[in-house]
Amino acid sequence: MTDNSIIDGIDYGPLAVLIGTWTGDNGLDVAPESDGIEQNPYYETITFEAAGDVTNAEQRTLSIVRYHQVVQRKSNDKVFHDQVGYWLWDPADNSIVECFTIPRGVAVVANGTLGEVDDPWQELVLEVRTDPGSDWIAQTPFMAANASTTGFAHRLTVRGDNMSYSETTLLDIYEQSGFEHVDENTLQRTG
Ligand code: HEM
Repeated sequence: MTDNSIIDGIDYGPLAVLIGTWTGDNGLDVAPESDGIEQNPYYETITFEAAGDVTNAEQRTLSIVRYHQVVQRKSNDKVFHDQVGYWLWDPADNSIVECFTIPRGVAVVANGTLGEVDDPWQELVLEVRTDPGSDWIAQTPFMAANASTTGFAHRLTVRGDNMSYSETTLLDIYEQSGFEHVDENTLQRTG
């Protein structure tokens, strides 16, 4: 990768593009309710930080970008979604992983492959999903029984200082199977 993807001797490859603080106020959340759906306009801040690298089983060395996403409802400014996680990149095969947890007692591991990236500073598309039927989602017994997360897919695009994403979380909740809980926003790099 290019020199500006190297920080303190570690090559973050395409993930270096993420590093910084991003804010956006065009968010729209579609979430389940017992009598149907609710739509919540939101704003948010996501901070991405270089977090070193890690070697698994002496075989795979992954570069790590850590993030924290704080989402506030426009109608009352309350934080109604908080998420901490990591993006990982394996330079050996250009595979990526997003793993994260949310404070409902749910944790997700989603993966993808980058394919050819000409210049990530011009455009970078990160696309990850959980494998259908896999056990890459962990949740408390209460959530598994009452509000089960059954799948997750995320597409995040960065063009210079502009970011957009769309993510779909599949939920079994309120007698509905495969409810599409969708979140989308556009953000700008502010730091
Ligand atoms: C910007 C991102 C997100 C926002 C703004 C958001 C917001 C919401 C809202 C408003 C609800 C309805 C219940 C409530 O009012 O608390 C909800 C439910 C839920 N969300 Fe999210 N969510 C986001 C992302 C996610 C992600 C990434 C996951 C997991 C992978 C997730 C898992 C769930 C689950 C399991 C429920 C059902 C819990 C319940 O309603 O009792 N959400 N979310």
